[in-house]
Parts: sequence; C-alpha cells; structure tokens
Amino acid sequence: MKVLAILYNGFKAAKAEPRLLGTVENELGLRAYLESQGHEYIVTSSKEGPDSYGLTDVCSQTDILITTPFHPGYLTKELMAKAKNLKVCVTAGVGSDHVDLNAAVDRKIQVLEVSGSNVVSVAEQVMMSILLLVRNFVPAHEQAISGQWQVSDIARNAFDLEGKVVGTLGAGRIGHRVLQRLVPFNTKELLYFDYKALPEEAEKAVGARRVEDLKEFVSQCDVVTVNAPLHEGTKGLINKDLLQHFKPGAWLVNTARGAICNADDVAAAVKSGQLRGYAGDVWNVQPAPADHPWRSMRNPLGGGNGMTPHYSGTTLDAQQRYAEGTKKILQNYFENKPQDPGNVIVGVGKYESASYGQR
Ligand code: NAI
Repeated sequence: MKVLAILYNGFKAAKAEPRLLGTVENELGLRAYLESQGHEYIVTSSKEGPDSYGLTDVCSQTDILITTPFHPGYLTKELMAKAKNLKVCVTAGVGSDHVDLNAAVDRKIQVLEVSGSNVVSVAEQVMMSILLLVRNFVPAHEQAISGQWQVSDIARNAFDLEGKVVGTLGAGRIGHRVLQRLVPFNTKELLYFDYKALPEEAEKAVGARRVEDLKEFVSQCDVVTVNAPLHEGTKGLINKDLLQHFKPGAWLVNTARGAICNADDVAAAVKSGQLRGYAGDVWNVQPAPADHPWRSMRNPLGGGNGMTPHYSGTTLDAQQRYAEGTKKILQNYFENKPQDPGNVIVGVGKYESASYGQR
C-alpha cells in the first residue's frame, strides 16, 4: 500500500533530537516498519497551494494518509474526490477537524485518531495558561528579561486563582482532566458546559456543576477554558455576541482549536479590556501569519496575551505516545484487527464518535 504522511519540518532540531518523531525528518519512526511490510512510505510537509499534499498526484494514489493537527494538511472534499484509493486517514494526535469528516462519511473513508495520546499534555498547558493570565505572568517576565523592575505595573492586574469561578466548555478527556487539576486550587466553583454530562462519579469527584445554557455558563465564569472539538456547532462559537455575555474582565483560554473563536472579535475584546486576557496555542490558520491579531494584542494594561505556537499536545512525551498509537492503528488495519473504539472518529460510512456534534 501507499502511505502518505504530512508532517512539519523539524530542520536542525529534528536532526539533533530524534524524539521529535512528528517531523518530516523523523517520520513518526514508521519507515522501517512500513517498508518491512512491503508498503511504500512518502513523507512531506507540503500542504498548501496547488501542490498541496505533495502532491495531488501522490495523493491520488494514496491508500492511507497520516496527518497531524500541528501542521494541518487540510483534506478537503475536493482533494478527497481526487484521492481515489484513499481508505483510511490517521491523525497522529487528537483532533481531526482538518479532515472534511462529512465528506469522509460520504466516501466511506475511515478517520482514526490516537485518542488520549496527548490529553494530559494539553490539560497541563491549560493549567499553565490559566495561571499565567490570572497572575499576569507575561508582562512580569518581560520586565525581568528587559532590565526593568516596576512591581506596581504588574501587580495592579495580578490575581489569585483561588476563589475564582472556572468553567470548561467541553468536558471530555481534556476538559475532565482540567477540572481534576483545578480541584486543589480552591476555586469558588467549577462549572462545565457540554451536551454530554460527565459520569456522575466523575462529576462528584471534581465537584463540578453542569450549566446547560451557554450564555448563562459564560456569564458565571471568571475563567473559561475551551476543550471541545472544532465542528459545525463550535466554529466561530466565541464571537462578539457571546463575548458580551462574559463577565467583564474574564480570562479565556483556548487550546482546542483557533477557529472556535472569532480571531478579530477576541483581539478586540482583549484590546478594550472586555477580556482581561486570552491564551492558547491553536490558531485559525497554522502557521499563523506574522500579522495575525493574536500575536500583538494586549489589554489596556499591557498584558493579557498568552499565545504560543501550537505545541501543547506535542511534547516529547506526547510524540512518543502518538507515534506508537499511529503504528498500532496501522498494524490493526493491515492485520484486519478491530480498532480501539475510542480511536474511531468516522467508521465506514458513519460517525462513531459523539464528540463532533450532536447528530
Ligand atoms: P473528547 O472527544 O474526549 O471531548 C470533547 C468533548 O467536547 C466531548 O465531551 C463533547 O461532548 C464536547 N463537545 C463537543 N461539542 C461541544 C459543544 N458544541 N459544546 C460543548 N461541548 C461540546 O476530546 P478531547 O480529547 O478532550 O480533545 C478535545 C479537543 O482538544 C480535540 O478535539 C482537539 O481539537 C483539541 N486538542 C488540542 C491539542 C493541542 O495540542 N492544542 C491536542 C489534543 C487535542
């Protein structure tokens, strides 16, 4: 079979650090395995423009496509139509919104991901992002490295997380782990908004309250963290209209998908102070252009920007897990064994995951 992987270029870092498995250079560690099984393995970073997928030619003969959310090769309906042999798309990581899932259902192309492989990595990033916003870390760090020392300029917008209301939009694997990690911080209350309730035991263990109306949910939170997949029901969900229902001066963390937020509306809310800050690692376009509004936005007191490139789910620990998980998915496929049901987003001709919207 022909297996095509779209990965990001790691350049010098990938040559020096072989554990950077999700790079073009280190090929998810799959070459020896795939070639020993008689398969052809093509790896490229090309994902944009007329040559997207290296490629349209290669894509047209590909049986299995591997992509990662960190360097999303958008598999559109049009591209899928050209990929006549394509049977399986594997996401090395979590989040398969870069594949047109409805088109995959229609064309009976399976979409599998390595569920759970980086959920701890992201939950830890969420905790870091909440703390750096609430405690006003970034301007403080900027003072430290630029030779300044003016505590009042930082402290005037720094708070404790204790006593605040924190809510997760999406309480699946990551959202639940975030709630678990928030318990020792003695927040005033933990809330969640999800069309699926947490199992009773889990809800009790973290002491979280479910709020069923989104506007009501955001209006009660000092901090909102977004942990839902990107799909028709979440695209642009956090926009000017919904932001008006947030508490004035709330903090927003989004490590789920950039396009869940309207980029201009969020930047405007941070600039006006309506949001005290926004942090995350996911962008509506990746790589983000140099003039993306989220790169330069600051609140009126000079802080409130906790953005990074998309890396929370691609720590070296996570890369090992999603590379191993990708190999396992391929082995199951080649050996005709059933897949772990948690990894199946789209099965043959239907959605198997309930996470990509209520259907
Ligand atoms: P999951 O499938 O375990 O949980 C997602 C939850 O979101 C489900 O409980 C689902 O019911 C809920 N949900 C879906 N639509 C919703 C809506 N409209 N409103 C409220 N809740 C909704 O997924 P998991 O593992 O927790 O990951 C969530 C997302 O995080 C992924 O789909 C991916 O986009 C993102 N992610 C980001 C990473 C990064 O590196 N920044 C790495 C891994 C995941």
